[in-house]
Amino acid sequence: MKIAVFAGDGIGPEVTAEALRVLEALRLPGMVLFEGDVGAAAWHRHGHPLPAETLEMAGSADAVLFGAVGDPLCDGLDRHLRPEQAVLGLRAELDLFANLRPAAAMPGLEDMSALRPEVARAIDLLIVRELNGDVYFGDKGTRTLDDGRRQGWDMMSYAEDEVRRIAHVAFRAAQGRRGQLTSVDKANVLETSQLWRDVVIEVAGDYPDVALNHMYVDNAAMQLVRDPGRFDVVVTGNLFGDILSDQASMCVGSIGLLASASLGERQTAHGTFGLYEPIHGSAPDIAGQGRANPMAAILSAAMMLRHSFGREGEAARIEKAVARALADGVRGGDLGGTAGTRGIGDAVLERL
Ligand code: NAD
Ligand code: IPM
Ligand code: MN
Repeated sequence: MKIAVFAGDGIGPEVTAEALRVLEALRLPGMVLFEGDVGAAAWHRHGHPLPAETLEMAGSADAVLFGAVGDPLCDGLDRHLRPEQAVLGLRAELDLFANLRPAAAMPGLEDMSALRPEVARAIDLLIVRELNGDVYFGDKGTRTLDDGRRQGWDMMSYAEDEVRRIAHVAFRAAQGRRGQLTSVDKANVLETSQLWRDVVIEVAGDYPDVALNHMYVDNAAMQLVRDPGRFDVVVTGNLFGDILSDQASMCVGSIGLLASASLGERQTAHGTFGLYEPIHGSAPDIAGQGRANPMAAILSAAMMLRHSFGREGEAARIEKAVARALADGVRGGDLGGTAGTRGIGDAVLERL
């Protein structure tokens, strides 16, 4: 079980350390961890946010455990040298097109949701975010118009095969859950979205047991806070999925709680190759203070055991330990409490 660990920047190393403690406590036979540089840390050391040796390490592993990248001091660099290119590059180079971002209410945490407790209690949804296309990966640039004004531009597009493969992932996920799929787009304005919708409808023919509905992204953002319990699986493009998942985290209680799996088609001897990371970033405002909530990172390790190593039992054990810690009132600053990163890790380990 070869796991490449890329902790990255800011709180990335802090939360990843706790995820590793949890993994090591399971004493899984044959588990090998090796670490690589990504993000601003890699740029400082190697002059590039995703050095060739890091990419090679990822390719030779069975799974990647990722922390976070991003450093405000690097925001002025040429785009291809910015820390974020590490995670974007890994997603693209490793064909990780399907990003699963589950968001479910945690018992005892309803009072921490940004929503009323009775609304928050019903949340149990999965965002299936396309991860290799959209305006993220289109041509982009800045230019000066004839009249001298500067213009920035980014090309949004989806090819039908890109939509088809993520749609299949989402329909299959819905089959394994409550059988409801909401496809989120902006087809009333964007051609990219109209094609998205047309292809999702075509794919629906293969899944008569799944109830499909379509929602414009503005309405979806509204429904997500009005009545999040109405959603089962949500499938959407790269940009809308990025935004809606951060929003979903606050419906549950904190961005420090939401994990993600980025999957492609490659199979290893153990399961599906994948990259696992919290949905949050490097949180420069609290980095280096030992205050970050490591639960999202710990839950990402659980997703890794489930999807890349077929270890459902251990994955569920980790998730239960986190849920129990929350139910027992273990709360970081993001949840109105005083527990630090290490203390939260200790609390999860005790319950494991
Ligand atoms: P962010 O997610 O890093 O932080 C947003 C807010 O949430 C901050 O106030 C932060 O303190 C808080 N927060 C985030 N995670 C937390 C945790 N585990 N515990 C407690 N509080 C937490 O988003 P941002 O501030 O917009 O971005 C900061 C940097 O991270 C940027 O450079 C951005 O590009 C990068 N980023 C990277 C990833 C990634 O590596 N996958 C994801 C998102 C953002
Ligand atoms: C995320 C992040 C990334 C994204 C950034 C860091 C490129 O926000 O993983 O949600 O936009 O996908
Ligand atoms: Mn994001």
